[in-house]
Amino acid sequence: MTDNKYRADFPIFEKHPCVYLDSAATAQRPKCVIEAEKEFYETMNANPLRGLYDLSVKATDAYERSREEAASFIGASSPDEIIFTRNTSESLNLVAYSYAMDFLKPGDEIVTTVMEHHSNMLPWQMAAEKTGAKLLYLEPDEEGSFSDDEIMTKINDRTGLVAIGHVSNVLGCVNPVRKIADRAHRFGAVVVVDGAQSAPHMKVDINELGADFFAFSGHKLMGPMGIGVLYGRRELLEKMPPFLTGGEMIENVTLKGVTYAQIPHKFEAGTVNAAGAYGLAAAIRYIKDIGFDEIRRTEDELCERIFEGLSKSPHIHIQGSKDPQKHNGIVSFTIDDVHPHDIASILDADGVNIRAGHHCAQPLMDFLGVQSTARASIYLYNDEQDVAAFVEKTLNVRRWLGLES
Ligand code: ALA
Repeated sequence: MTDNKYRADFPIFEKHPCVYLDSAATAQRPKCVIEAEKEFYETMNANPLRGLYDLSVKATDAYERSREEAASFIGASSPDEIIFTRNTSESLNLVAYSYAMDFLKPGDEIVTTVMEHHSNMLPWQMAAEKTGAKLLYLEPDEEGSFSDDEIMTKINDRTGLVAIGHVSNVLGCVNPVRKIADRAHRFGAVVVVDGAQSAPHMKVDINELGADFFAFSGHKLMGPMGIGVLYGRRELLEKMPPFLTGGEMIENVTLKGVTYAQIPHKFEAGTVNAAGAYGLAAAIRYIKDIGFDEIRRTEDELCERIFEGLSKSPHIHIQGSKDPQKHNGIVSFTIDDVHPHDIASILDADGVNIRAGHHCAQPLMDFLGVQSTARASIYLYNDEQDVAAFVEKTLNVRRWLGLES
């Protein structure tokens, strides 16, 4: 019997019993989110923002109310500053294409870090190539911290844009976004924050962070797949050209040209994922009802158990900080003489699901001197039994492979 009072909200654990420790890749969904999507399709499905009939107006209302909930979730002052995208990758690409490629020029510098997920690295590599701006990478120490010297030296009067992950998807560390943003803003640079791993796990206030853009995905915070959010500061969004063109993002079109719709619709070409947005709003309400204190408490306690358990083997090495409280429920590790894919496969045979590989962060793997890692990641529905099963199986991997008796 589980002592986790939220677990029963998640139908997957009844229909597909497993130890699910891959929430950094995608979270499981509570019933209320699954039902919200169903409710949308059963009671308000029509193309939003276009129809003049009741059903379409209902769909539009549901979509725009969801935008308001997303805005309030991260402290945005207006829903106009919230653009619905497919996911964090698309949100960050939107900024690269519509801001960086238009407003940066040769001689400017883009600063990101070696720790980034490819989604917050490749758009800047491409923007640098297209604009002639130079791309620089902040390097952390082995615990994942950036020194003041690194920040002060690399962010300077040539910096036009800084792109930083709020929480690393490999090391779990929280980056000093505010400090970096303050430094960047001194030189008029724009600050883009990848919040994919933070928004589901901690209270985010984009004003406190100093973010000009903030991106996150629905599916990592228990919402549907295929819905993401980009927050952008109004003045920036207003001067940016659209990312994609097409239906419903215009004010007027002639054979000679176009005037665009106001924000946020200027950035939402084509039929939108209204059911996804409605499901995301249900996920946000679910999180708000529980509260981040409770979520953090569960994650921190379980993370501590994982650290205690894995420390029993001298052959297991956890990447990043030695302090479990600095991991935000993300534990990446290696086992001597065992490929991480084998770790994941051996655990999977016993129904323990973890991720193994480079975690879309190959430059970080190079920096850490590993090819790949295994990664367990926790969310509020995990319990002590999950952690105990994971620790027991992981401690057994080398024995299982005949590497020790
Ligand atoms: N970005 C997701 C992860 O880190 C997929 O696992």
